[in-house]
This record gives sequence, C-alpha cells and structure tokens, in this order.
Amino acid sequence: MEFLDLPPMLGASGQIRLPGSKSISNRSLLLAALAEGSTRIRDLLASDDVDRMLEALSALGVKWTREAESGDFLVHGVGGPFPFKQATLFLGNAGTAFRPLTAALALSGGEYQLSGVARMHERPIGDLVDGLRQIGADVRYLGNDGFPPLHIMPATIAPGGIVRVRGDVSSQFLTALLMALPLTGVETTVEVVGELISKPYISITLDLMERFGVAVERDGWKRFTVPGGTRYQSPGTLYVEGDASSASYFLAAGAIGGGPVRVEGVGRDSIQGDIRFAEALEMLGARIEMGENWVEARAPESGRLRAFTLDLNHIPDAAMTLAVAALFADGPCRLNNIASWRVKETDRIAAMAIELRKVGATVEEGPDYLVVTPPERLTAAAIDTYDDHRMAMCFSLVSLGGCRVRINDPKCVGKTFPTYFEVFGSVTRPVPVIAIDGPSASGKGTVAARVAAALGFAFLDSGAMYRLVALAAMREGVALDDEMNLAALASALPARFDEGRIWLGNDDVSDAIRTEACSAGASRVATFAAVRVALLDRQRDFRLGPGLVADGRDMGSIVFPDARNKFFLTASVPARAERRYKQLMNKGMSANMESLLKDLEERDRRDATRSIAPLKQLPDATLLDTTNMSIDEAVAFVLERLTS
Ligand code: DC
Repeated sequence: MEFLDLPPMLGASGQIRLPGSKSISNRSLLLAALAEGSTRIRDLLASDDVDRMLEALSALGVKWTREAESGDFLVHGVGGPFPFKQATLFLGNAGTAFRPLTAALALSGGEYQLSGVARMHERPIGDLVDGLRQIGADVRYLGNDGFPPLHIMPATIAPGGIVRVRGDVSSQFLTALLMALPLTGVETTVEVVGELISKPYISITLDLMERFGVAVERDGWKRFTVPGGTRYQSPGTLYVEGDASSASYFLAAGAIGGGPVRVEGVGRDSIQGDIRFAEALEMLGARIEMGENWVEARAPESGRLRAFTLDLNHIPDAAMTLAVAALFADGPCRLNNIASWRVKETDRIAAMAIELRKVGATVEEGPDYLVVTPPERLTAAAIDTYDDHRMAMCFSLVSLGGCRVRINDPKCVGKTFPTYFEVFGSVTRPVPVIAIDGPSASGKGTVAARVAAALGFAFLDSGAMYRLVALAAMREGVALDDEMNLAALASALPARFDEGRIWLGNDDVSDAIRTEACSAGASRVATFAAVRVALLDRQRDFRLGPGLVADGRDMGSIVFPDARNKFFLTASVPARAERRYKQLMNKGMSANMESLLKDLEERDRRDATRSIAPLKQLPDATLLDTTNMSIDEAVAFVLERLTS
C-alpha cells in the first residue's frame, strides 16, 4: 500500500490557485459536445473524472483537442444526439460522467454499454433510469437492478408531458435528465418526487444550460420545464471556475492553522454551491474575506474554532471538511442532513466515523448525521481513504493539529485534484527538524542539546534509544543478536526522557546507558532492521512545535527525511578518544586511552560499513570538523548556519 506521511505542521498561510471545478468541467464538456458550434473551454480541470468524460466523448464521435500552449480545450459540438450509435464506455468512479451520459445516450437512439469501477456499480442509478423509461427509453441493468453497469438499446422516445424523478438520493439524476431533454426538441416538464437534496448543484446545471442557450423554467425546486424547439448553442468561450469544494481544504487550513490562506479561482460571484462553505466556516468563528474571484480565511480571533450544529444538505461535499475541522473545535459538533454521503465515492458517513476515531475523536454515527467530539490531543494515525479523494484531502488537515498523519493511497486525490498534496505543502509550515549526525564522540550530542536549548526546541538523543534497548536486553537476558525479541523489547520500551534525565521504568539510567558495555551493545542492536522500525514512531513523536533538534544516524534520512537542516559533525580519532576519556573520568569511571582509541576505530568501521543506516554524511548535510573547535564554537557555527 502506498502512503504519504505528513509531518506535524506549525501553521498554514499563503495563496493558491484552485484547479477547475469538477462539476462545471464535466457539465461543460457534455453540453459543448451536444451543442451546435465549437466551444473553447478555459481552465478545464485536469483529473481522472474529467479524463473519463473526455474518453467517453471521443468514443461517441465527438472531436476535441487540447491546445498545448494555452491548455484550452476546443470541443467541436455535434449539434444533437451523439453520432456514433454504438459504444462501450468505462467511466471509472465518475458520477458526473456516468449519470449525465446515461441520460444523453438513452435519448440518442443507439446501443451503448456503460460500466465503471466496482464502487460505481454500488452507487444507485435506478431513479434516473425510472425517469428515462417514462419517455420510452430502453435502459437495462447488466448487474443488480437499480445499479450500473447499464445496457442502453435504441428506442422510440416519446417526450413531452411530465417526467417524475426522485430528488432525495442524488441531485445528479435531475441534472442528468435536464441536460439530456433538449435532445428531444419537445417541451417536457420534470417533476421532483421527494425533497430535492443538494439544490445548489441544480443551480449549476441550470446556469450552464442557459449559457448554452436553453433556459429552463423553474417552479420552486419542484418543477422544471425544458422548452421545446431549442437546441444547445455554443457560447463560444467558457471559463471554468475554480473548484469550490477543493477550496474548502485550504480555507479550513487557514481557519485552523492561523492563516491567512487565500484561494484564487472562486469568489463572491461563484455559481457553485460549495462557495457557501465559507459561510459555514464563518459560523465557526473563522475570519473570512471574499472578493469577486478569491476567498481568504484566517483563524478566529480567539484562536479556536467554535463547536457547531449545522444542516449541511446544501454543501454535501465541502461538509466533509467540516467533519475534520470539528477536531479543532471547542466542543462537540453536529453535522445534520448528510444522508447523501452514503452513496458517494464510499459510504462517507461510515468512513469518516472510523477514521476520525483513529485520531482520537469520539464519534456518533447516525443514518444521516455525525456528531464529532474532539479529543484533548490528536493521536498520530494511518488514515485509510477508501478510494475517496475527499477522505484523503480532508485528513491532511490533521497535520495542522501538530500531529503527524499518514495518508494511505494518497493518489486517490487524482479524481479531482492530482496535485493536492504539493499545493497543501505550499501553504503549510512543517515543524522544523534539525538533524545532527556524526561518529561517536564527535561532540554531536552535546552540540545538538545546546542548539536545542538555544532555540527552545525539543531534543531527541536517538542514540540513547538504542542504548536503552541494549540495556533492557542485558537486564532481561535477551541476547544481543536475537532480532525479534530485541524488536519486541524496543516497541514496548518503558522509556521516558525528562528534563535531561533518562528513565527506564522507575530507574534513572542516564549514567548506566553511557558505559562502554552499553555503547557496544547499542552499536550491535542498532544493526537490526526490526529494532530500527520498532523505534521509528517513538522518535517521530519528539517532533513538536516550535521545533526539534534530532541527534543520530538516520535522523536526516529515514526518521525525518524532510529535516530542514542537516549537519554532520566529525573530529579526528585521537581528538574524539581524548574527549571520551575526559567524559569517563568526570563520571568517575575508569578508562584507558589506548583501548578507547581502538574501540572508536573499530566502532567507526562497523558503523560505516553496516548495511542498515551506515554512518555517512548525507549529500545535503553541512560538514563540521570539530577537531580544533570548542563546543561553544561548534554551537555558534550551527546556530549561525540556521539563521543565515
Ligand atoms: O550516538 P550514540 O553513541 O549514543 O549511539 C549509540 C549507538 O546507536 C551507535 O552505535 C550508533 C547507533 N545509532 C543508530 O544506529 N542510529 C541512531 N539514530 C542513533 C544511534
């Protein structure tokens, strides 16, 4: 399983340009394909769902090209039903392609097969098929009744009158019918049965149809009359707004992580319902500013988001972002009227509940609501994303709680936002890590501790972890080459680092782990991969705001590969032997210069030649030879490098 580890973040601020709206992109493509004339579409979203629509249009005989220089798409409309009367279409998990194409193809007089990924075949489509059958369409189920895959047969379409369609499962059924009906040329009224959900998405549909020359007459949210005798006409050029749902992650980042975060591409004039996410965020106390084509979010004056109870039927997609924002609220938060979540890319109510619990929240899951009670402290966790782009994007926000988070299968964001994590990285500030490594007695430990103190950062002496494992093994009679038992010991190590003292259970072992026996033991246990893996999370837990200085072998390569600064301290062997000698004498331990020299040389060789995490300077590390330097000078050198 591929994963992406997001480091704990200090905060978020900056500015981003949004990718195009998925809803507008796929609607525009279909309408441009059916219209008379060519349409230039600017800022079309580049994503999986849009690719599925583009492939389908090609398979149906619609010509389109992408201009290399401008990135604009030119769609040559066919001015009516699709010219190819036979096609087999694979539509992935793109609901915005599957539903509208089903309707348009049912009225195109050909034979078509439509299928998608397994999840698409679990997403209902029966209400739409029922509607289409009322005007004579011949749509058959190839799998389970009411679900894709579908087989569409040529049929005599008898438009006109009233078509009834349910509106309480997905608004896409109504959208699909409305967009297809102008193909018949006959005035037809669609009547919505049940409460229409996600109304703002219908507004997008009507707005775009109108731009293509078909004005639907609307009677409340109940009846929609598509006029007869009108055809879609290309508007010439069409601009795709930025995706308002995608904006929600960045606005939430601004509200949680200080801000300001500004998104460009949607604003006051947006036709997308999810723009109202900004209002919801405002009710949580976030400070929002909006321009014609941008929105900006900052944290509340008080710093903390307010607990909320909100009806979120009108912003079902962006509402997911609020479920994760609830982790940062000052009390239990209730998300109401979100039943449609259950038929999206995954059962989003269930998925959200499971994953929010992993980071420590208490979650109550109802048929159409969630109650999220934030934890005192977030817990680092590996988040499953259920092949749902929004799960992946939402949970990136956990990192703003100063908590690392692993996102499994991060590439699922490709559905609507392939570059999401890079863009997220561009507005977030990771807790900085300064990694310091070098051979034994190079002074790295002392320098690292002093640098940490000077900066007010946490300090991780990772060598001490290996020393603790060695000590615990020797005390409990575990052989120093028994990898599995050493690893078990390492993962359950009752170690505590407390104001410069190091504890193993109730014993202060600060001195005990510095003996030569422990040094030798540490160097042996550190060669085992299982031991190193067992200590990984424990080491990463030291990364806390405002920053961390981490001392040890693989700090800048494995444990904190994104460390902001890396240093490699070294010194000649005699200089190091002398330092070690003085250290031991000061602690009242006996020492012999000759054997220290020999030991160091041997350990250097072993550490440098071992296969796992060998001692070597990383290419991006700054070298510092301390042979002729005092500790003060070495500390000053490092601090100066950090600020320069
Ligand atoms: O830095 P130190 O002498 O306390 O380290 C003790 C041993 O642990 C040494 O042999 C190197 C090894 N070590 C390691 O393999 N990886 C680390 N991150 C830190 C120390």
